[in-house]
Amino acid sequence: MSLFLIGDSITLTLLIFLILIFVYYVYNLRTNNIFRRIGIPGPAPIPLLGELFNAMRRGMYKNDVALIKKHGKIVGIYEGITPIILVTDPDILRNVLIKDCHVFVNRRVIEGGAGPFEHGLTVLKDEQWKNARSIVSPTFSSAKLKAMHSLMNDVSDMYNERLLEYADKQEIFDIKTINGQYTLDIIASCLFGVETNSLKNENIILINHLKKFFTLTLTRIFLLFIFLTPRLGSYLGKKGYTVLPRDSLEYTANIVIQVIARRRQCLERRNDFIQMMIDHEEEIKDQEVGQQSKSLRKTLSDKEILSQALVFLAAGYETSSVLMSFFFYVMATEPVIQEKVYQEIRQELGDDEVTYEKLNQLQYLDMVINETLRMYPPVIRLDRVASKDYQLGNYLIPKGTIIHAPVYPIHHDSEVWPEPEKFIPERFLPAEKAKRHPMAFLAFGDGPRQAQIFALEAKLGIVRALRLVEFERCEETEVPLQLGKIIVLNSKNSIFLRVVRRSQ
Ligand code: HEM
Repeated sequence: MSLFLIGDSITLTLLIFLILIFVYYVYNLRTNNIFRRIGIPGPAPIPLLGELFNAMRRGMYKNDVALIKKHGKIVGIYEGITPIILVTDPDILRNVLIKDCHVFVNRRVIEGGAGPFEHGLTVLKDEQWKNARSIVSPTFSSAKLKAMHSLMNDVSDMYNERLLEYADKQEIFDIKTINGQYTLDIIASCLFGVETNSLKNENIILINHLKKFFTLTLTRIFLLFIFLTPRLGSYLGKKGYTVLPRDSLEYTANIVIQVIARRRQCLERRNDFIQMMIDHEEEIKDQEVGQQSKSLRKTLSDKEILSQALVFLAAGYETSSVLMSFFFYVMATEPVIQEKVYQEIRQELGDDEVTYEKLNQLQYLDMVINETLRMYPPVIRLDRVASKDYQLGNYLIPKGTIIHAPVYPIHHDSEVWPEPEKFIPERFLPAEKAKRHPMAFLAFGDGPRQAQIFALEAKLGIVRALRLVEFERCEETEVPLQLGKIIVLNSKNSIFLRVVRRSQ
């Protein structure tokens, strides 16, 4: 009996607590609704959830389209209890991303919530970001990427073996699965110096840990929601909580730390990111002998190298893999376009080795990749934070305001892209591109925070695969594709396809 009473009183206390939070929130919103004060239009926020409720219900990309259609090119929304301004006006976006990028250097970061990612490029702010980016950028120069090419080729060999197996067995397969394995193997090999060989089902423990980063469980969705509440998120972050699975983080971090240690002791060498960071350190030491110490740091600590490697994994794995999946889906459902891409590859490359330079000569392929990224942009929101009060078009926004560029509605605006649901690579002919506002295509973002590592691994995989096999749709292929609901745009379901060996 007394146990029931205790249970009842806990429930009652919790209920009262929740009601108080709710009342406080509604009161706060009514008196402090920042958008009402500034005059920015937007939907009435749903208590505590804001637009997250609609984004979860409809899918974020669809919700963004609906918001822009209803409220215009500048919309004020709440994400949880955080105010965010969505901007699709191209001139204002150009100011935010490029012209006034000194005001918008940073992304939104939950202080203390980034764990081992804290020194990563996506998270770093102001001078620290500039410093790290200037050290890391040369790693992705064409010369360095060329050096990584043979590592990528090894993985692409395994990918092709799998495709040929499917062709010979006439087996229907989910292209998303093998693309995920391909990009994971490439990133692990080129950045961490680890051969995951997930395409061959090796290294299962590491692969399962890496995959856990990208799997959203209910607990993680809940944690994510809490972390979106700035003060609470920051408090929990400082206490050591993280949205990412702790065991997987520790397992992966340990492997990378061991690789760094072996390289420092010269026990092994490889043309990968970690090696480049260590070699760079040696070059700087040589250059600086006898010089005064500089205020700007030129090398990264082990912790910082680890953070960059983890960020590259997070930023590069899913983006590249979904690009490849959407691309091959297009090939299978648009056979005329597939034939044109194939003919260009044959003409430009024949049976020659696929080199970095040759990949850059394939103009029609680039157009098809860009049109794929227009229709299915993997990253559907770019974000920036104002570092001071700023005049955003007609509105004066306070320091700290978060701006989001919703990429999906920008890429599907029928005034800029006639018949936006049609796949038309010719939209990316140089003459057509010149007619458009530069902010009309934002698959890689823009300005100094733009993605700098373009779709090289995806391009290599695509070209080598298309030389060997032709992609076909089958009964199980979902046409049109249904899209998923979260921030990295993916198809909702598997993409089942078939491949046939090419005779030539
Ligand atoms: C199809 C492939 C890819 C797409 C569509 C893509 C897209 C993007 C986008 C939209 C951004 C934000 C840009 C902005 O805020 O203006 C970004 C940032 C970034 N991406 Fe990618 N990305 C791709 C591949 C990769 C790969 C393969 C890597 C690394 C291995 C990578 C690493 C990064 C990093 C580090 C940033 C943050 C840059 C910074 O803040 O300085 N991305 N990417």
